[in-house]
Amino acid sequence: MRILLIACLRASTGNCTTADRIRSHVEAAGHECELRDADGVQSPLEVAKLIAQRRFEAGLAIHLYKAGRFLLGSRIPFGVIFGGTDINEDVKNEEKHRVMGNVLDSARFAVAFTCRMKEVAAKHWPRAISKIHIQPQGILTRPNVSFDFEAFLHDAGMMHIPGDTHIFLLICGLRRVKDPLYLVEAFAEWHEREPRICLAVIGPMVDPLFTKEVKAKLQNVDGVHLVEEIPQTDLQALIKRSFAVVNSSLSEGMSAAILEAMDLEVPVLARDIPGNAAIVQHEDTGLLFSSPKEFVKLAKRLMSEPDLKRRITHNAKNYIRTNHSWELERETYQNLVGLCLTVGL
Ligand SMILES: *[C@@H]1O[C@H](CO)[C@@H](O)[C@H](O)[C@H]1NC(C)=O
Ligand SMILES: *[C@@H]1O[C@H](CO)[C@@H](O)[C@H](O)[C@H]1NC(C)=O
Ligand SMILES: *[C@@H]1O[C@H](CO)[C@@H](O)[C@H](O)[C@H]1NC(C)=O
Repeated sequence: MRILLIACLRASTGNCTTADRIRSHVEAAGHECELRDADGVQSPLEVAKLIAQRRFEAGLAIHLYKAGRFLLGSRIPFGVIFGGTDINEDVKNEEKHRVMGNVLDSARFAVAFTCRMKEVAAKHWPRAISKIHIQPQGILTRPNVSFDFEAFLHDAGMMHIPGDTHIFLLICGLRRVKDPLYLVEAFAEWHEREPRICLAVIGPMVDPLFTKEVKAKLQNVDGVHLVEEIPQTDLQALIKRSFAVVNSSLSEGMSAAILEAMDLEVPVLARDIPGNAAIVQHEDTGLLFSSPKEFVKLAKRLMSEPDLKRRITHNAKNYIRTNHSWELERETYQNLVGLCLTVGL
């Protein structure tokens, strides 16, 4: 089957990696799958033309509103995957709410990443409840085995760092909503007393203006380094070399960086917000903090209690195996896409 997959492919959004994963799942079942960036699409008419021209036989969309609406009225069967903003923001807008309802009515199936997402969706569109499947994001890490850590430290201007340094890694696109500076003062203070502690903030410099601000702020701060993003497999190798992965953002959603760290058996220290609390159980699969002061307290505990570190990384790895299985995700999407083959469902 030839499948069209529409999603927001702007680099550094989680959607992009999700789209790649889903494409690889359906292609592994022998289908052809072509990705289209929703941001480059103007109207359902344009998509209808594309479908006719390229002879697509089925469609997929990540985000009901931002992508799914372009499949409305098309003749091919399609499935949709709820995006975070569908449920958290777009439902509040009456017109978007109506459009999403139409998308759900026309779709063969819909996928929610979490139970909560399904619950919220079912509250808004009870008639669609039987179509909504829950499939958490699958996690598969492949750290670059030949990653050159020394060269990385050199390029990142972190060469002066002694061998026993504890790198805390904050993986984050530089946008204000991600609040990358939340822990800077606490770190600078801690670093002054314990020079082997440092924080590396790594990610795409998404917002140029904000990036400038961050750079200016960090210029006079010791112990906090801003690092240009690196390829995914290198990043995973870097995660493995870090002492812990940190998430300090206030934004909603599910952090792929946290899930990857858990899979790589590196401890996670995350801000106590609903998105993080949904995947990190405090003192069980990671540590949750509510203030910079609490962060430092917990990080110190992690350093002085090897048993705690062992326990949470072990439990976190098990959690990824059972709740974010890449193999199960593959099976689910292959089965769901199969629904598009059944006539007149
Ligand atoms: C892995 O790391 C090596 C050494 O830094 C680099 O040359 C190579 O391109 C990396 N591989 C990938 C897939 O990024
Ligand atoms: C932190 O976690 C939140 C919620 O899980 C996520 O939306 C955000 O992208 C993450 N931010 C960073 C910097 O990892
Ligand atoms: C993991 O999956 C199990 C079984 O599906 C479920 O009972 C549990 O609540 C899930 N854990 C989390 C933290 O979501």
